[in-house]
Amino acid sequence: MNNWARKALLAHLEFPIFKALIEEASLDLKGKHLLDIACGSGRSNWLLEVNYQPKSLTAFDLMPLQIKLAKQEPTAMTQRLQADLTQLGFKTGAFDAAFGFGILHHLLDWKKGAAEIARVLKPGGHLIIEEPNGRASAFFRIFAGFAIPQEGAFTFEELEEELYRLGLKVLAYKKVLLPCFRAYLFKRED
Ligand SMILES: C[S@@+](CC[C@H](N)C(=O)[O-])C[C@H]1O[C@@H](n2cnc3c(N)ncnc32)[C@H](O)[C@@H]1O
Repeated sequence: MNNWARKALLAHLEFPIFKALIEEASLDLKGKHLLDIACGSGRSNWLLEVNYQPKSLTAFDLMPLQIKLAKQEPTAMTQRLQADLTQLGFKTGAFDAAFGFGILHHLLDWKKGAAEIARVLKPGGHLIIEEPNGRASAFFRIFAGFAIPQEGAFTFEELEEELYRLGLKVLAYKKVLLPCFRAYLFKRED
């Protein structure tokens, strides 16, 4: 996704909510290894670099065009690559924290994507992710002009249960504008 409205929403609505979750949990991400999952056209790369000064920031997306666009962001150190969330090439436990600005609901097999996220997070690492629940399908269809796949229409309870099964516990969550969108902070068990 690459338009001014998406970038504005990311910078002025979604990222500040992620930041609040991180601050309220007193997480210090400076000097850490961060992952930006399905980074799209890359505005989140820039926001993560500027706000957290990580040791490394790795960003990936399925679509080569999105990676090409992301490379135009004024970032200094983000490593970008084309990759499929359901089969990542990263080492197990490679990242201290992973960020996902709306991705699992796009997948035909979201549980497989969630399992890969859990695998590449270090024990004790964190996942900060935003997702809609299944009832948001109508919102996307009417206001964004696209439908989320039926396979990605999970409820928040299903999301929390699956991530718990994978060793990720909810530390906190916040509504993102509407109750059918939530930003979550999860911690992977040590
Ligand atoms: C709603 S966009 C979000 C993009 C960006 N994070 C943002 O907030 O603007 C979803 C992104 O997921 C990517 N995507 C879909 N399936 C994927 C997969 N299996 N692996 C990696 N990326 C995927 C799409 O190419 C798209 O860029």
